[in-house]
Formats: sequence, structure tokens, C-alpha cells
Amino acid sequence: MLDNTAAPALFEAERRFAALQARGAAFLGTSYAIMGGAMSWVSERNLVAAISNAGGFGVIACGAMPPALLEAEIAATQALTTKPFGVNLITMHPKLDELVQVCLRAKVGHIVLAGGIPPGPAVRAVKDGGAKLIAFAPALVLARRFIKSGVDALVIEGSEAGGHIGPVSLTVLAQEILPHIREVPVFVAGGIGRGEAILGYLEMGAAGAQLGTRFAASTESIAHPNFKNAFIRANARDALPSVQLDERFPVIPVRGLVNAGTRKFLAHQAETLAKFQAGELDKTAAQLAIEHFWAGALRRSVIEGDVEGGSVMAGQSVGMVTAIQPVAEILEELKAQAVAALATRAPRAEGS
Ligand SMILES: Cc1cc2nc3c(=O)[nH]c(=O)nc-3n(C[C@H](O)[C@H](O)[C@H](O)COP(=O)(O)O)c2cc1C
Repeated sequence: MLDNTAAPALFEAERRFAALQARGAAFLGTSYAIMGGAMSWVSERNLVAAISNAGGFGVIACGAMPPALLEAEIAATQALTTKPFGVNLITMHPKLDELVQVCLRAKVGHIVLAGGIPPGPAVRAVKDGGAKLIAFAPALVLARRFIKSGVDALVIEGSEAGGHIGPVSLTVLAQEILPHIREVPVFVAGGIGRGEAILGYLEMGAAGAQLGTRFAASTESIAHPNFKNAFIRANARDALPSVQLDERFPVIPVRGLVNAGTRKFLAHQAETLAKFQAGELDKTAAQLAIEHFWAGALRRSVIEGDVEGGSVMAGQSVGMVTAIQPVAEILEELKAQAVAALATRAPRAEGS
């Protein structure tokens, strides 16, 4: 039960948490400054609409979709929510310019460009079309460059995240970038599973947070029950980056749950290397053989439920997934944790 001093402290904590989120929430047009990170195969109409309807910011993962499919996905999402949501486009997509036009025609307010430096023509097209542009900044110098080129907000994603990752943890990226970037809102991502962590980054100057793993295991996520149950079973230490066997054959770092597939990938690299050394494969063919190993593997785990052979991308935050919960409950829980942490600090802050 609350004692008679707890209610004002909670009220004040809620007010302070809302104030800390104000910039990010205003930028997104939401109640929470929380983005649902785009996840290929997972972030489709149902999850995106659920996140936006619950007061967060859903983001459709375009992935390798052709323009017509993206157009249909956006329309289907708009049928499920009147709240703002975004679309994440991969910069390497051969039809990037067309995809940007699809988003603009559908009046998508926020476009996220992922997977590398946002190309100039795409940046200009988004800006000219009146949408807000969000990009991933892997270092301070790039953050500054992106802002100069017109990017409206940044995401800094630490190596704790699920999916394709950079080499630097969010703990370090946040220290390198947050104190120096005031011009645009900066959202933090990677390994976030609780509200206290969100609060900590907001206090460091972040505008908000982006979470993927926790939403992938939500009730509204269309991921196969095997996929969600694998998340519930897993600990942080089970979500590891892909391993590269030989520096001559680079492997794109992807964080996911270790399984038979990740072990087979090591054996596959060793066999491919042996064939290369024996002169049976040239370097290009060997590199392609390694790259093709994971083709279609995320779909196999998310849609078909093959969590042993498929790619089960997950962040270290997977250890904090303990149940399949509705998105609204996840968002409320994150807020309650942040507010409770603030409430316990409030009297000390007043006395200091
Ligand atoms: C299954 C899965 C698929 C993902 N696919 C993408 C993607 O297609 N594009 C992208 O920009 N990020 C992708 N991500 C990263 C998320 O958008 C988000 O930044 C990340 O999950 C944050 O870290 P967390 O999982 O610890 O919350 C993916 C993450 C997961 C777990």
C-alpha cells in the first residue's frame, strides 16, 4: 500500500518522466518516446499498429519488399491505426528511390534509412516530400555529417541489439554522442529491456529509446510461437554475434540466439575454406557460399518456427523477455519502472 507521502512523489515522478520524454514524443507525435525498432518479417501491419495504438511509435520493416508490397503493407497498417508510424528502408535496396516515393505518396510522416550512410538523393527526396528523416549514427563524426545533410533525428544502436550490429556498445556510443548532439533528437537502441535503463539514457540527453526484442515476443507480434518461446527461454548470454572463421572471408555481424544453425554455419565456413585452399572454389565463389548460408533463414524462424535451423535474431535484452505480453502492457511496464525509479529519488533530489 502507498503511504501518504508516496502519491505526491509518484505524481511528481510521472511529471518528470513525461518532461524527459517530451522532445522525443513531440518529434514522433506519440505519448511515449519509444520506437518499436523495425524487424524484418516481424514488424508488419499488426505489430506496427499495435505499438502505435498503444502510444508508442511502430515502424514497418520494408526489408527486401518490392514497392508494390510496401504500398500494400502501409495501406493495411493505416487501416489498423490512425496514429503515426514510420517505415524503415534499407539503403542497399535496389529500388530505394521508388520505395521513398511509395512512403511519401502514402503520407508516411517518418522514414528511417538503415544499413549504411543515407544516400544524398534519398535524403533530398524525403525532405522535399515533407517527411521526417531518421538515420542510424554509428559514430559522432557521422552523426554530425548526417545532421548537416538534413537528417531530422538519429538512432544510436549499440552492439547489444538484435539483428545486424556495429562493434560498439550502447554504453559507449551514448557517452560519445549524447553529450555532443543537441540539434536533433537522438534515440537509443540495443539491449534495452527495462524502464530504468530508458530513464538513465533520457537523463543523459537521449530523446527516447528504440526497442526490438521485447516487442518481437509480444502478443500482437505475428512471430511463430516457437520464436516467442525461444525468447522466453533464452538468457542474455545466448544472444551472440555471428562468428567469422577467417579474416579473408568477412561475415556480417548479426546478433541472434545460438542454435544448430549457428553451429552449422561454423562448419560451413570451415568446409568452404578447405575447398578454397584446395583450389576447388575461387575467392568470390567462397565468399558467396558463406554469404548465402543465411539466405531466407530469418523468415524460416519467424514465420515457420524453425528456431533450430533458422536465424533467431535477438538482442541481449532477450534475457528480460519473461512472458508473451500485449504491447500496451510492455509500454506501461517500462513507464512504471522508470517512474518508480524516479519516485524513490525525488525526496533526495529535493533535499539536495
Ligand atoms: C528479429 C530482429 C530483426 C531485425 N531486423 C531489422 C531490420 O530489418 N532493420 C533494422 O534497421 N533493424 C532491425 N533490427 C534491429 C531493431 O530494429 C532494433 O534496433 C533492435 O532490436 C534494438 O535492440 P533490442 O533488440 O535489444 O531491443 C532487428 C532486430 C531483431 C531482434
